[in-house]
Amino acid sequence: MKGIILSGGHGTRLRPLTHTGPKQLIPIANKPVIYYAIDDLRQAGITDIGIILGTNMPNKIKDALGDGSELGVNITYIMQGEPKGLAHAAKTAQDFVGDESFVMYLGDNILKSGIQEFVEGFDDSDFSARILLQAVEDPRQFGVAEVNEKEEVIRLVEKPEHPKSNLALVGIYLFKENIFCAIDKIKPSWRDELEITDAIQQLIDDDLNVDSFIVEGWWKDTGKPEDVLDANQLILETLKTDIKGKIEDNVKIKGRVQIGENTVIKEGSVIKGPCIIGENCEIKGYVGPYTSIGDNTQLIESEIDSSIVIGNSVIQSDKRITESLLGLNSKIVTDKDTYPKGRSLVMGENSVIKL
Ligand code: G1P
Repeated sequence: MKGIILSGGHGTRLRPLTHTGPKQLIPIANKPVIYYAIDDLRQAGITDIGIILGTNMPNKIKDALGDGSELGVNITYIMQGEPKGLAHAAKTAQDFVGDESFVMYLGDNILKSGIQEFVEGFDDSDFSARILLQAVEDPRQFGVAEVNEKEEVIRLVEKPEHPKSNLALVGIYLFKENIFCAIDKIKPSWRDELEITDAIQQLIDDDLNVDSFIVEGWWKDTGKPEDVLDANQLILETLKTDIKGKIEDNVKIKGRVQIGENTVIKEGSVIKGPCIIGENCEIKGYVGPYTSIGDNTQLIESEIDSSIVIGNSVIQSDKRITESLLGLNSKIVTDKDTYPKGRSLVMGENSVIKL
């Protein structure tokens, strides 16, 4: 079995972070989100992985993953070019996949349970596709499945205005070779994309068997900032304590905390897990639960919780930073003693500041 990971898309809902890199590289607990997909595939025994690249700085993904050997997999890069939908992306992997069955993993999806149990038995089954479903509050932003009493999938609709169920399609699919014929038959949707949802519906229309699993553990599509912070929280729930840096006197550490090499936690600080602090950081203040702080970051007499600081940042704030997502090289400074007093901001396009 092979794996393909879709890593294109413009990531518009994650701007400005996606102005400087693809969304699949945004770190969750200090690890790019796409690494979780690779880990899941490897743990399911799939090491031949095609990474499908779009137009938003694809070289950054190549630089981060290389040939995959450091992650225990063998990576082939496939250029999708302009993103024309998930089915179009899948189609570009046809030569790579050949006649094998394969897992298609959307590179911004993250799943607690991994994929091993879903992959088992698929190869030898008479199913042409296997989809994963989860009940969600607002299904309108997903592909939605209608199932009958026997839990058989009878209809799939992409982002329906009036959903027939609350079962969303998780962005992880298992396919056999015949998905490519189905893709050839479908037409672009209202958003001018070749939808993988429509291609799976085509399999059903052609009387081929499509199997479904309900995912019990959590699943996140990290397409929006709040989803990225939620995923960070969920991953940190499983964090194990590992302290490598230096802890000065009179520091309180509570709960599960990871602290990287060459990081110093300065005197008087309080670190409350679950949280992760990278390498070469200097922390003076309070780091609260569900916070991930990337390498080379300084926290100066400040408080932060429930946030992601990607790295190379300086935070000196007189108010606690909470539920925030700070891109690389961010700087928050509080200028207390000079006039004129006020907020001085240098903001990139699409920045959001809640004062
Ligand atoms: C895509 C799929 C959708 C699926 C979702 C899962 O949506 O089109 O069917 O439910 O991924 O993450 P998109 O990310 O394109 O909005």
